[in-house]
Amino acid sequence: MNKTIGILAGSLRKESFSKKIGNAVLAMAPEGFEFKVISLADLPIYNQDFDDNNEVPKAIVVFREEMKKVDGVIFITPEYNRSAPAVLKNALDVGSRPYGKSIWNAKPAAVFSNSPGNLSAFGANHHLRQSLVFLNMPTMQQPEVYLPKVNELFDENGILKEGSTQEFLQKAVNTYINWFKRNAI
Ligand code: FNR
Repeated sequence: MNKTIGILAGSLRKESFSKKIGNAVLAMAPEGFEFKVISLADLPIYNQDFDDNNEVPKAIVVFREEMKKVDGVIFITPEYNRSAPAVLKNALDVGSRPYGKSIWNAKPAAVFSNSPGNLSAFGANHHLRQSLVFLNMPTMQQPEVYLPKVNELFDENGILKEGSTQEFLQKAVNTYINWFKRNAI
C-alpha cells in the first residue's frame, strides 16, 4: 500500500510562495508514495477548553482525522518575525492534543523554508525544528532546505521554473523519502 506524506505550508495567503512550493513538491512523489497537500485554512486557534470540555470544532476533528492517515510530513515554512508563522505553530498545537494522542508522534518529517529575502527563513526553519523534537518527529538533517529569493522562482502561472532550485528540491525530496524509509516505525 502507498505511504502518504502530508505537505503543510505555513501560509494562508492566496498567492503564497510556500503554497506554490508545496504544489511543486506534490508532483515529486516517487512510486509507492502519495503526497497530499493538507490545508490549514479552516483551523481555529487552539483553545485547550475544546478538548477539556469535549467541544472540539469540526475543522479540528477533520484535520486530526486527516493527519492520522498521513505517515510523514513535509513542512514548508515562510518566516514571520524570525520565527515560524502562527498558522503552522497552531497546526502543531492542534495536532498535539488531546494529551497522549498526538497525531505527530514518530512521523518522519522534513522542513523546507523560504523567503523573498536572502536569509531563507533560517529562523523559522529552526524554531519549527525545536517543536518537532518535542513532538518526536525524526526530522531530516541534510540537505537543509533554505530557499532564498523565492519570489523569483515561479513563472506567470505560479509554477516552479525548471532549473537549479527545482533540481535541488527533487534531490531533497528523494533524500527525505530515504530518510522516511529508515525512520518510519
Ligand atoms: C514577513 N516576512 C518576513 N520575511 C523574512 O524573511 N523574515 C521575517 O522575519 C519576516 N517577517 C514577516 C512578518 C510578517 C508579519 C509578514 C506578513 C511577513 C516576509 C515574508 O517572507 C513574505 O511576506 C512571504 O511572502 C510570506 O510567505 P508566503 O505567504 O509567500 O508563503
